[in-house]
Amino acid sequence: MFAAMPDSHVVTISRFLVDQQRFHSEATGAFTSLLHDIALAAKIISREVTKAGLVDILGATEEENVHGEQVQKLDMFANQVLIKALDHTGLVACMASEESDGLIPIPDQFPAGDYVVIFDPLDGSSNIDVNVSIGTIWSIHRKVSKGARGALEDCLQPGTRQVAAGYVVYGSSTMLVYTSGAGVHGFTLDPSIGEFLLSHPRMRIPEPSKKVYSVNEAYYSRWSREQQRLVTHLKNEGGFGSRYIGSFVADIHRTLLQGGLFMYPADTGSPKGKLRLLYEAAPMAMIVEQAGGLASDGARSLMEIQPESLHQRTPLYMGSRAFVELAESYLAGSV
Ligand code: AHG
Ligand code: MN
Ligand code: MN
Repeated sequence: MFAAMPDSHVVTISRFLVDQQRFHSEATGAFTSLLHDIALAAKIISREVTKAGLVDILGATEEENVHGEQVQKLDMFANQVLIKALDHTGLVACMASEESDGLIPIPDQFPAGDYVVIFDPLDGSSNIDVNVSIGTIWSIHRKVSKGARGALEDCLQPGTRQVAAGYVVYGSSTMLVYTSGAGVHGFTLDPSIGEFLLSHPRMRIPEPSKKVYSVNEAYYSRWSREQQRLVTHLKNEGGFGSRYIGSFVADIHRTLLQGGLFMYPADTGSPKGKLRLLYEAAPMAMIVEQAGGLASDGARSLMEIQPESLHQRTPLYMGSRAFVELAESYLAGSV
């Protein structure tokens, strides 16, 4: 359901969320408040991202994360901003993050709530120092465990059980895009007033889509034979062009706006691919499918996968429905 709002009006994310809430009779305002808090964190991260290069927030820390990747200062900053924006609200039962090894519990001095927030605080970190678009990705579930405060099982839910998902892309402008199951809506930050304004209501992957594939071809020799045949087809008789930014959020944002096929396949070096299920694949899968696209691990729906651990990886194919289905048929060896 979408509130009928004349497009001439300036609609802030606050106004939009309150309007949307009207369609959920059971709504208590908690979800609306949670998205407000995430939007606030996005504004704070955006401010630091746009200042990066002027203040000592570029570059790497001496630390490595659970994936053995060097942690960038902005990764840690964004992680702390999100945790501090959410941990005291009484809305959240627990959190999980790419940058935190285990579950992030709500400190005892704060009340716990019904929602579980799992996030990649800063996606595309390798691009920070070269001023290429980066992002933040989040996934929201309802708590399912019986205890008063969240537990690991609350985070290990399949993507089909997400109540909402969203991302922020820090690019030529800062945009917040989210879905709560009633379409995908985009808001652009007007830094002069510090407000996210509705700029892309009811986002849909265009049909016909742009024939663009997006994959890191440096790994070609490590792909399966079927993956190699797929990309060879796309660039030859398939007539596809190629775009690869190397920032998942930026590559998916382009795919949402223009259509196309984003792939991060398994390879001999990474048998499950590189991208993580809980805070990269599943939230983006909800968004892409709510926008009319498809999200697969190459054989089945990404959102059907039952997670076994917080940081598990998955091969990932998402974008225009017909292109993902084409990829699946090549990977199945049926073409
Ligand atoms: P993160 O910075 O959160 O670790 O994510 C980086 C990911 C993703 O943004 C992008 O799609 C992928 O790394 C690029 O990987 P390659 O450099 O192997 O192509
Ligand atoms: Mn990431
Ligand atoms: Mn990250």
